[in-house]
Amino acid sequence: MPNPLEELTVDQLRQRTSLKWSAHPADVLPLWVAEMDVRLAEPVAVALKEAIDAGDTGYPAGTAYAEALAGFAARRWGWGDLAVERTAIVPDVMLGAVEALRLVTDPGDAVVVSSPVYAPFYAFITHDGRRVVEAPLGADLRIDLDVLATTFAEARAGGRRAAYLLCNPHNPTGRVHTADELAAVAALARQYGVRVVADEIHAPLVLPGARFTPYLTVPGAEDAFALTSASKGWNLAGLKAALLIAGPDAMPDLARLPEEVSHGPSHLAIIAHTAALRAGEPWLDALLAGLDVNRRLLADLLAEHLPQVRHVPAEGTYLAWLDCRALGIEEDVDDGLAVVSDLAGPARHFLDRARVALSSGHVFGTGGAGHVRLNFATSAAVLTEAVRRMGAAV
Ligand SMILES: Cc1ncc(COP(=O)(O)O)c(C=O)c1O
Repeated sequence: MPNPLEELTVDQLRQRTSLKWSAHPADVLPLWVAEMDVRLAEPVAVALKEAIDAGDTGYPAGTAYAEALAGFAARRWGWGDLAVERTAIVPDVMLGAVEALRLVTDPGDAVVVSSPVYAPFYAFITHDGRRVVEAPLGADLRIDLDVLATTFAEARAGGRRAAYLLCNPHNPTGRVHTADELAAVAALARQYGVRVVADEIHAPLVLPGARFTPYLTVPGAEDAFALTSASKGWNLAGLKAALLIAGPDAMPDLARLPEEVSHGPSHLAIIAHTAALRAGEPWLDALLAGLDVNRRLLADLLAEHLPQVRHVPAEGTYLAWLDCRALGIEEDVDDGLAVVSDLAGPARHFLDRARVALSSGHVFGTGGAGHVRLNFATSAAVLTEAVRRMGAAV
């Protein structure tokens, strides 16, 4: 199977109307939002074409998506008892996370996050009337269990309910939490009475050398929720559909999920996600091999062109977290808020001077300033040219 990251030219990518390639002028190389520069995997494209040819565009029905996930989880992660009856179809991962948080917290309650973390966590939690409380990652970018314990205690002050929105694997750092780390998280959550909602959208994207542990397979996680979809693994963000999975002790909570939540995802999206999980593994394996090549290429390019930038290669995801603080670029941020749109410091500098679009670190919360997130799900040629330009701009 050819490397999916090497099948499209820049000219073809510029024809796209989705966010990544359309948000900036034509002289900008976009390595920002989490879209991949790939064609649709063949089994997904075939399933969608068949549905369109058959006019099969009505309302979704049945449990094929959850069954496909259960099969994938068993083959891929040895998760043999993902119970289809403990799943619900939700419009997408973020709306599913909001619904799960509604089941286990009340308005005004705290939702703990490990910053720096996927920026929309802040917006979605706040929009739903909950408070974000940060438990920053350690200097090694791994979960700091002492900080998490203190934050859980604070979150539960006054006997209020509280939840932890875990990102597993972690965006933007690309860390894949180990089974031991997750077991320690579960023990703390039990000790403090905090409910865990695990966002596992990047789970299929674990690179050679790391192993994904589904949070619900960890001892002590029986009352938790997990969310996943084929969206990141197979680049289906434009075909929204996700699955919310309850641990056995969270089943009474899942039973309170309003029925109308499952009206959100579209039938075509469910067909696409189901096909990816059922028959998309050869494509995924080719993608992971390509991402592994790019991960090494990026490390070499950074060493050559930007030796001051600190970077620990990602264990999972296609996101690289670059510590640019040694470049001494002024962080034009006031009280944690970007003065200029959602770009600050290094990301603003690289867009203006290198014509490379990256995600600005400060939007990921405490610990993010002075960093950029680079999306390496692109061709070797684009990646090489982008880092060369970035190096020339400092
Ligand atoms: C950690 C994480 N969660 C959720 C999402 C968005 O998923 P969805 O479009 O299904 O809400 C992303 C997208 O990049 C993500 O990185």
